Amino acid sequence: MPNRPAPQDWREANRAMWDERVPLHVASDFYDLDAFRRGKDSLSDFHIAEVGDVTGKSVLHLQCHLGLDALSFARRGASQVVGLDFSEPAVDAARDLAAELGFGPDRASFVTADVYDAVEAVPDASYDIVYTGIGALCWLPDIVLWAETAASLVAPGGFLYLCEFHPLTDALDDESATHIAYDYFNREPWIDETPGTYADFSAPTINNRRVEWQHPLGSVITALAATGLRIEFLHEHDMTYFQRFGSLERQEGNPYYRFPPDRPRIPLMYSLRASKPPADR
Ligand SMILES: C[S@@+](CC[C@H](N)C(=O)[O-])C[C@H]1O[C@@H](n2cnc3c(N)ncnc32)[C@H](O)[C@@H]1O
Repeated sequence: MPNRPAPQDWREANRAMWDERVPLHVASDFYDLDAFRRGKDSLSDFHIAEVGDVTGKSVLHLQCHLGLDALSFARRGASQVVGLDFSEPAVDAARDLAAELGFGPDRASFVTADVYDAVEAVPDASYDIVYTGIGALCWLPDIVLWAETAASLVAPGGFLYLCEFHPLTDALDDESATHIAYDYFNREPWIDETPGTYADFSAPTINNRRVEWQHPLGSVITALAATGLRIEFLHEHDMTYFQRFGSLERQEGNPYYRFPPDRPRIPLMYSLRASKPPADR
């Protein structure tokens, strides 16, 4: 079932909201750019394991934000990384970081464009790895068009890697996560005006209007399968990156939030890899 029509200003509202948050994120402990400059990897252990060796590969990061994951792939030996984001300040920050780390544009480049315009915007027709997620799909009204766009940028023999917050978490009550409070199949845009950002909840912000969409797991998988990509795996994870529910907790030294051990677990994130057959098949 298609989503309901989006409010006309969805793109401009979301872009203004993100543009304003970029300097806050650049200065934040959450992104800790100083540690990143000193060599800290932004990629999680399971991303590294699931994406695999990137040595000599080209990587396109869609909705790359400050470019940290793309630049982490460059540091891990990717031959070329390209990041795309519709927020100009985000792309400027990513370019500055790339230059500071000594990556020239042939090795790490960043383009300002809407993800739906990625085919025309990125420098090459296809990439060994198209990587995206962690708060990316919720900003997109049309998951079928997203899947077609992302899949068309995967080189023969390459793959798309997606890691996202599990859509089941959109349906549970915000505090305890013990009962279904919202419609899992909701197709209406979510409009929110909460100030601040996940990197600093108390930050005073002006551009707070944002438009988001839920994408049930089946709609994402079906959209990707329809492009001809082959789903290699779909992993569901019992942990997440932030305190999505009041009942989640994080143990000392562990980067992830989980339910307490006496609580039944549900998936909080998922990740998948979907590959394109080699050209000679
Ligand atoms: C939550 S951030 C992604 C975070 C990223 N995974 C990270 O770890 O830094 C979402 C990004 O999507 C970008 N974005 C949102 N809608 C977009 C669109 N339609 N086209 C391109 N980028 C978009 C925003 O500018 C923002 O940088």
